[in-house]
Amino acid sequence: MFGLLNKKKNNNGADCPNGECIGDEVKIAVRQVNVTLGGRKVLDNVDLDIKTGKTLVIMGLSGMGKSTMIRSILRLQEPESGMIFFEGQDILKLREHDLDEVRSRIGMVFQKAALFDSMTISENVGFGLKEQKKLKGPELEKRVLEMLDIVDLAGKENSLPSELSGGMQKRASLARVLCYRPEVILYDEPTTGLDPIICNVINKLIMDMKQRFGVTSVVVTHDLDSAKMIADEIAMLHMGKIIEKGTPEEFFNSSNPIVKQFVKGSSEGPIKV
Ligand SMILES: Nc1ncnc2c1ncn2[C@@H]1O[C@H](COP(=O)(O)OP(=O)(O)OP(=O)(O)O)[C@@H](O)[C@H]1O
Ligand SMILES: [Mg+2]
Repeated sequence: MFGLLNKKKNNNGADCPNGECIGDEVKIAVRQVNVTLGGRKVLDNVDLDIKTGKTLVIMGLSGMGKSTMIRSILRLQEPESGMIFFEGQDILKLREHDLDEVRSRIGMVFQKAALFDSMTISENVGFGLKEQKKLKGPELEKRVLEMLDIVDLAGKENSLPSELSGGMQKRASLARVLCYRPEVILYDEPTTGLDPIICNVINKLIMDMKQRFGVTSVVVTHDLDSAKMIADEIAMLHMGKIIEKGTPEEFFNSSNPIVKQFVKGSSEGPIKV
């Protein structure tokens, strides 16, 4: 099977689950994950490999479970069954302390900005660095100002989130995660609602994090141009299943009628609107 090596032990030395082994090239392996929400099977026995140092884009119609998928990786959503291996260890079996350790290595940029209302933008952006990396004083301030400059928010350090536009808040929440450089970053629609120029800045940042720091990324987006630009692989989630996965070229030339309709944005086809 794709991404799996035939060896006796996982990359962390543990026994292989279900007789299959996960090689070093896979950072996170999702196996047979099931999530039911509001009486509907949102994730139906989903398998997905997220490769080390690569960018995986997840696409799909609204309500198909993309946010649920990435929330499950952090256990912000608890799957009712399945396994999610982070470097070979099943996150779903971890107890609080070990889970916190894994969570500190995975950053998430939420679909909504999720900033702390009572903190200034610089306090918000420095939050992860202070908590996760124990940075303080001038060193913390320097990193925060550098990052605000990169996301084009220089001069806004003393503003409160409520004083910023939605797009600005989103960039601040992105800066907060990029600032502490986690090994894995999960982005939930990082460019939705942003103008095309800022959109491009964000896409370049995502690519830059991969090239400079070897970050493994999962990006949920509806934006086909962004996906083409940043993805090593694109997966499509539909009716609880991954119905297609491949390089951007493979994805955009897929023969699957649902994928074809999706990339064309057509109202004609198997997806009824
Ligand atoms: N807490 C909840 N309780 C009940 N149903 C929920 C809950 N959270 C999500 N859902 C439902 O689960 C489904 C998947 O939601 P999810 O937010 O993962 O979709 P999505 O693919 O991210 O959609 P979008 O593109 O609109 O962000 C939706 O039908 C949603 O209504
Ligand atoms: Mg979503």
